[in-house]
Amino acid sequence: MLNDFDSSLLCRISLLTYIHFYLTYTFNFIFVYNMKIKRFENGLFSVNTYLLTENASCLIIDPGSDISILLNDIKKLNLNCLGLLITHPHIDHVEGISPAKKRFPSAPVYLSADAVTFLSDIPNQARLFGLPVPESFMCDKPLENDGSFDIGPFSVQYIQTPGHCPGSLSFLINGSLFTGDVLFQGSIGRTDLSGGNFSLLSRSITEKLYLLPDSTQVYPGHGGATSIGWEKKNNPYV
Ligand SMILES: [Fe+2]
Repeated sequence: MLNDFDSSLLCRISLLTYIHFYLTYTFNFIFVYNMKIKRFENGLFSVNTYLLTENASCLIIDPGSDISILLNDIKKLNLNCLGLLITHPHIDHVEGISPAKKRFPSAPVYLSADAVTFLSDIPNQARLFGLPVPESFMCDKPLENDGSFDIGPFSVQYIQTPGHCPGSLSFLINGSLFTGDVLFQGSIGRTDLSGGNFSLLSRSITEKLYLLPDSTQVYPGHGGATSIGWEKKNNPYV
């Protein structure tokens, strides 16, 4: 049972989290409005790989197995790729890292620090689904706890949202939320794979993602886009 001190501390933490999200979102809404988002559905599991562009810079989120079209787009538009952001270490979300890294060797790979040890499991995942084992890669920027950083014109807030698997991150970038396999349009990520935990997943969504403004657009790792407000009203799983 919580004593008065614990309750008041929890209240203060929740209030601070809310203020932090509110200020970040408001700041982005006022000052950052040019980012374009392009979705490339690809691979055996129809993963969504996202290309975010702002002026001549871009970021790639979850490069899937067939990112040749995306890389051609980058070439055509003469964009400079500033980073590869990975929501979680499942094979469908990382198969395209090596080809992307070959094209942009100086673009760092960002991943939750909690997910780094699970990279060694990717060859097992490939064998399990009868897929070619992708070239191994390193995490250049392990991300601990919740936090934020800027990459060129992109303001990135990263939120640890475990439950689908350990080290699952959601990224709030220039006001748009990328949830990987945590929150889908009208659904949530599966929790029957290694390290999955329904109660953790549910708390990641209700205690973190649902604190964001209702108008926040959500871009999941599979399927179409949605919004925080729509999911709060209609998602039957949380
Ligand atoms: Fe996944």
